[in-house]
Amino acid sequence: MSAGVKAFAPASVANVACGFDVLGFALERPGDEIIAKPGDTPGLKITKITGDGGLLPKEVAKNTAGVAAQSLLDSLGRASEPISLEIHKKMPFSSGLGSSAASACGAVVAVNKLLGNPLEKKDLLPFAVLGEQIADGAYHADNVAPSLLGGMVLIQDTQKLSWCRIHTPKGLLALVIYPQIKILTREAREIISPTITLAQHIKQSSNLAGLILGLVNSDFGLIGESLEDVVIEPQRAKLIPGFAEVKAAALDAGALGCSISGAGPSIFALFDNSLKAEIAQEKMLNIFSARGVSAEGFLSAMNHQGTYIC
Ligand code: HSE
Repeated sequence: MSAGVKAFAPASVANVACGFDVLGFALERPGDEIIAKPGDTPGLKITKITGDGGLLPKEVAKNTAGVAAQSLLDSLGRASEPISLEIHKKMPFSSGLGSSAASACGAVVAVNKLLGNPLEKKDLLPFAVLGEQIADGAYHADNVAPSLLGGMVLIQDTQKLSWCRIHTPKGLLALVIYPQIKILTREAREIISPTITLAQHIKQSSNLAGLILGLVNSDFGLIGESLEDVVIEPQRAKLIPGFAEVKAAALDAGALGCSISGAGPSIFALFDNSLKAEIAQEKMLNIFSARGVSAEGFLSAMNHQGTYIC
């Protein structure tokens, strides 16, 4: 085993409006850092967690990074390998930015590297998804896949974890606004109605198809027309005070579209121009500020690298 390795795993935006549980993209920042080192005693231990305000469990079986790394070790038949894992949270959790997915991705990439890279990065996906499942109780890969693999990723079959990378146009920018309110993904999933109308199905399907085509063909007009969620966003918007006003400000400033990032509370908007994005950022932050909600914003290009050893 090598002396120790550090992995950086990026934040991600899941759903991308009309692709609930099946579409996500990776951001350039923020991201988590996970360090794997040879341990003193047999088995995996989480020896240090920083940046979590003392909230995350150090028990391997209760921690997303721990579960992801342990399932990888079990699958390789190397469960007694002495490994110490350090988790350095560099992004807020319960923010809608795929924080638990990032920790799970960082853990599997770091541990795999420590063991001499027995698996290719793409083959680490099932272990990272198992880790994330601990956080919200649901099995979906729309944060984990982009955080691990980079870029915009469509999960074609969640059970089989088959996925496709979707081309994104040069110059496509994501603005993310994070209002500092907590939304637990588990709770944000519980409020979703299990049924939709035929009219919703038709609109959401045409939006998802249009969005993918728009991305692949670098057609910003089609991206703009299709970046709309008629199913989940209307049900979750009430969890984010001021959402409608903030979204209207983004569209008014020239966003191609704007919706909730993952389960929220973060809001993302896509742009073809950084000046429009900067104007939107100021307007969106001002709305939260006027409501007494602390918020921060950042602009990011697509991250095509995913999780990497640094
Ligand atoms: N697709 C998931 C959701 C992402 O919206 O619930 C959050 O983990």
